[in-house]
Amino acid sequence: MSQKQYWKKGLVCVLLAFCCCMAITPALNAAESSEDYLLPPPLHVSSSLETAMFQRMSVREFTTEPVTDDELSTVLWAACGYQIDGGRTIAGINGTYAGIIYVLKEDAAYTYDPWNHSLVFFKAGDWRNIVGWQYEAPIQLGLCYNTTKADAKFAGAELGQIGQNIQFMANALGLGTVVCGQTPPAIDPLGIPESQEGMIVMPLGHPLHPYDFKHRPLWLSLLPRVQSSTLSLSDALENRTEHSSFTGELSRAMLSQIVWSTYGLSPSLDRSEQELNSIHRHRTVPSAHGYYPFDIYVVTEKSISYYQPNLLIKVNTLINVSAPIDFIGLPILTYLRVVKAGDHRTELAAASAEPTISSAPAILVIVLDVERTRPQWHDDLSGEQFRQFWYFEAGASTHNVLLEATAWDLTSTIVLPRDTGAIQSLLRLPDECLPLFLMPVGS
Ligand SMILES: Cc1cc2nc3c(=O)[nH]c(=O)nc-3n(C[C@H](O)[C@H](O)[C@H](O)COP(=O)(O)O)c2cc1C
Repeated sequence: MSQKQYWKKGLVCVLLAFCCCMAITPALNAAESSEDYLLPPPLHVSSSLETAMFQRMSVREFTTEPVTDDELSTVLWAACGYQIDGGRTIAGINGTYAGIIYVLKEDAAYTYDPWNHSLVFFKAGDWRNIVGWQYEAPIQLGLCYNTTKADAKFAGAELGQIGQNIQFMANALGLGTVVCGQTPPAIDPLGIPESQEGMIVMPLGHPLHPYDFKHRPLWLSLLPRVQSSTLSLSDALENRTEHSSFTGELSRAMLSQIVWSTYGLSPSLDRSEQELNSIHRHRTVPSAHGYYPFDIYVVTEKSISYYQPNLLIKVNTLINVSAPIDFIGLPILTYLRVVKAGDHRTELAAASAEPTISSAPAILVIVLDVERTRPQWHDDLSGEQFRQFWYFEAGASTHNVLLEATAWDLTSTIVLPRDTGAIQSLLRLPDECLPLFLMPVGS
């Protein structure tokens, strides 16, 4: 063989070897997982948006069955992925996206890159039981944020939306998860960069006790019953929009259902007999220690009203129980109580960061009652160091509004209060009740 032929053959071999390497790289990556790798396209989930809301619950016990790459891909896309037209499945608070998801697998820790829908290698080793020490699961998701982009409160509200999507999509896929919040953050041993801060850990896996929901509305109210739309969870996430100017009118059914989505109780009863979850009638959002310290107000052309998700849950505060009374699956005694008659939308909008929202047919106000975060019978979570968790819960409620508005061909957006005192006086709120977000809803 001449030297020329030798080099030619050598080059062909090198090219062939390179091509072979490229072909098997994803397989190697999936097997060894010491590199970044692309996730498969997310699955389309056809169960309805409301089914996901009806069946949202905390799962704390998991089997050892692995979570497939298809399932992980779908959960992560739902969490904070990109829509086809470039929008996102969650709203950035104040126009910023600061959330970062660490994905802890058996072999290594990764971060989720929503733009490329890929996992980016962070550190080798099995960190799952260190970070996710509360509950053992095949995958642990660490919800963190970039401290140069948002403070803990706004990051909390963004992570609340992400957590809500993870819980909805996990449930729709037959997987389970629970929001675990700790201070100092449970992710700290992983050694994340200094510009990042951890907030929440969510184990992800197959529930040890399978879901078992029975539709038992037991609805005692003049408000229209909540109903399931034909919109799938995947389509709701793909099609959700945010707008800053609004028109149109809302029917009673629309208003009632959108208000319910913020903080209402499920018309379905949980019969799954989880050892680590005794609640039978869950709400549309999770709450740290099950305190549920928020009040929702609805401001329309006619009045300002207070939303009572279920009068019977007042029993919780009366008998000082250490866990929510919803473990017996109480009937739902729900209503809107008028606090002030007349059209106060312009005053409310003027006290917000976006006065143009006054044209919205309804503006919801999400109010934190700090007093309810320090019950006598359990931990006091009213301090500033815990406030991020309440923003997380508020973020989950705002997200439900954006999704439920989509089901009615409506839109919404998350608006910040500008003059808290003016809103408190308009809604007749005491000092310890803090309006965190406003949600205009309309066409
Ligand atoms: C910010 C936040 C922090 C939470 N932290 C924990 C936690 O550390 N461990 C846990 O088991 N559950 C935690 N939860 C879940 C709540 O306990 C749960 O949502 C509540 O009891 C209602 O139960 P459900 O979600 O099954 O309806 C947390 C929820 C939120 C919103």
